[in-house]
Amino acid sequence: MRIKKVLVSGGAGYIGTHTCIELIDAGYDIICADNFSNSSPVAMKRVEQITGARIPVHRMDFCKLDEVEALFREEAIDAAIHFAGYKAVGESVAKPLMYYENNLLSLINLCKAMGRNTARNIVFSSSATVYGLSDRLPLTEETPTEAYSSYGRTKLYIEEILKDLHAAEPGWNMSVLRYFNPVGAHPSGLIGEDPADIPNNLMPYIAQVAVGRLEKLRIFGDDYDTPDGTGVRDFIHVVDLARGHVAALRKLEEEPGYTVHNLGTGKGCSVLELVHAFERVNNVPIPYEITARRPGDVAANYASTDKARRELGWEATHTIDDMVRDTWNWQSKNPNGYRDATE
Ligand code: NAD
Ligand code: UD1
Repeated sequence: MRIKKVLVSGGAGYIGTHTCIELIDAGYDIICADNFSNSSPVAMKRVEQITGARIPVHRMDFCKLDEVEALFREEAIDAAIHFAGYKAVGESVAKPLMYYENNLLSLINLCKAMGRNTARNIVFSSSATVYGLSDRLPLTEETPTEAYSSYGRTKLYIEEILKDLHAAEPGWNMSVLRYFNPVGAHPSGLIGEDPADIPNNLMPYIAQVAVGRLEKLRIFGDDYDTPDGTGVRDFIHVVDLARGHVAALRKLEEEPGYTVHNLGTGKGCSVLELVHAFERVNNVPIPYEITARRPGDVAANYASTDKARRELGWEATHTIDDMVRDTWNWQSKNPNGYRDATE
């Protein structure tokens, strides 16, 4: 079937906004639905500014079934990309019920409302966190999965729920995308990652040190079995990641059933390499100190990208230099994220 209208749940968030732009560029009609629990309505205004499109934005909570059903009655939705959810690993360990409730219930409600449709196409944001502490690299879609946080378990459980639903009702088409480490920002510098609190993840932390909001970076361990001793990750530019969703939608049009794909670059980059690239490309110093390892971190992980290239016809094209340049372009133009916006 030809997919025309796409619901983007959590569309005002970091990955959602970038994906909205790529969907519009690819010719899809989109509807954004978000409760703005971790995002700003300004972000959608910026997406409109970048694309020149008017985007219907519904302020709603996917945990409320009546609101989701009302949306599906109102709009003829052909497919949904489901970004809505909570994503902070540490917080999920402290507040497991909050994570299970929001992440599982929002997905279940979306599927319930969508299940009454003839068009049942869904793209789900999973994470490389489902590979747990596996150190057999590269990580392929066949690598055994395990979870070591409540957040990780919500992703694993949702993958299982979708698989069960597909087995029960084969009319569904489901694309599970396992993201590696999304970083960077749209080259316009108008949208980017805007953490509500002190960042947990490396790139937003570096960006906030660069802009003077944080004093220095703490590098969690330099005694790993990696070339420079610091952790190695597969950082992927958020624009490449967003384009992966367009490729996944195109695949759904071929009615493939239930599929799983890694979205990564296939290349590992160490923490120190990223820090030094940021300093070199942007000509800003990043003061740092080496501290103890962070519990639960693996030495290295990166994706096997073969399956996505073969089946989705997609691969990442942005370099680490592009990622650090675009991150700084966003952060330096918006030192406090969307908080200072006047629109
Ligand atoms: P984000 O927090 O920026 O975006 C999520 C959006 O969902 C936010 O705008 C938030 O307000 C909204 N939301 C949350 N619960 C909602 C609800 N019940 N109803 C309506 N809206 C709700 O996060 P992101 O980085 O854009 O991540 C998007 C998805 O990708 C998440 O599911 C996340 O777990 C997954 N993911 C992210 C990363 C990453 O590093 N950013 C990595 C792997 C997977
Ligand atoms: C983390 C999550 C993972 C999630 C992913 C999303 C954990 C344990 N894992 O992955 O579940 O899917 O984010 O992007 O939280 N680092 C520092 N100093 C910092 C921050 C990070 O040295 O202040 C190091 C870490 O030790 C790691 C690397 O930078 O080696 C990347 O860390 P991070 O950005 O948090 O991502 P992951 O841990 O890979």
